[in-house]
Amino acid sequence: MKVRVTEDYEEMSDVAAELALQQIRKKPDSVLGLTAGSSPLGLYQRLQAAYREGTVDFSRVRIFTLSEYIGLDETDEQSFAYYTRKHFCEGLNLAEENIYMPNGMADDIAQECARYGKAIEAAGGIDMMILGIGPNAHIGFNEPGPVFVPETHVVELSEATRAANARFFDNPADVPYWAVSMGMRDIMFARHILLLASGPGKTEALVLALGGDITPKAPASVLQLHRGAVVIADETAARRLPKELRGRR
Ligand code: GLP
Repeated sequence: MKVRVTEDYEEMSDVAAELALQQIRKKPDSVLGLTAGSSPLGLYQRLQAAYREGTVDFSRVRIFTLSEYIGLDETDEQSFAYYTRKHFCEGLNLAEENIYMPNGMADDIAQECARYGKAIEAAGGIDMMILGIGPNAHIGFNEPGPVFVPETHVVELSEATRAANARFFDNPADVPYWAVSMGMRDIMFARHILLLASGPGKTEALVLALGGDITPKAPASVLQLHRGAVVIADETAARRLPKELRGRR
């Protein structure tokens, strides 16, 4: 795992965009795993700009979203499906059949998790996973718990996560209690991982993830074991990381 500390959000997004564009140019049928949230917005905008400028082609790129709330339809503005279409897919030449998302409205959610896991496998796994980090060091919706859950699964969201995500909802009580998330195996089998962290709200999460033991109580800590993971964090988010970690390979 490598840590790159940037001056601010904009530079974090530049660094991430450069690495993602390299990946897609090298392998035009790359499989991307995509997080939602505010952290990757700058990256997604830069990818859209590169496409508009004609310097990258998405026609063979496949995308898998990391997670989805249970009970929200893809037309619901708070769903991750809606977010991904609006902030990533729009303005890119992705083929509809290359867009994969878990269906949070499925009648049989266990079966839906199994279907999604198989689709990731059939695509040959994820080439590049784009991650954010929750304040409790969750990745995707892999919440702190007694074990790492390997496969796509149903998650009961923690109060900390519901509170952190309430800002997107008109009424905090509307934040769903349950979600579907890719598991740790799906994430750790990705060939490259970019984790983006910016701002004071992520300082403690990075200490939990990088400054201590590898433990399912801080799910992002497992990335310490990944050779192809790059944590791209701005100064504010990284300010409490031990010096020797900044710039470590
Ligand atoms: C949500 C998502 C995560 C995301 C996190 C951080 O809970 N499930 O995948 O990384 O929030 O979001 P933000 O980047 O908006 O801080």
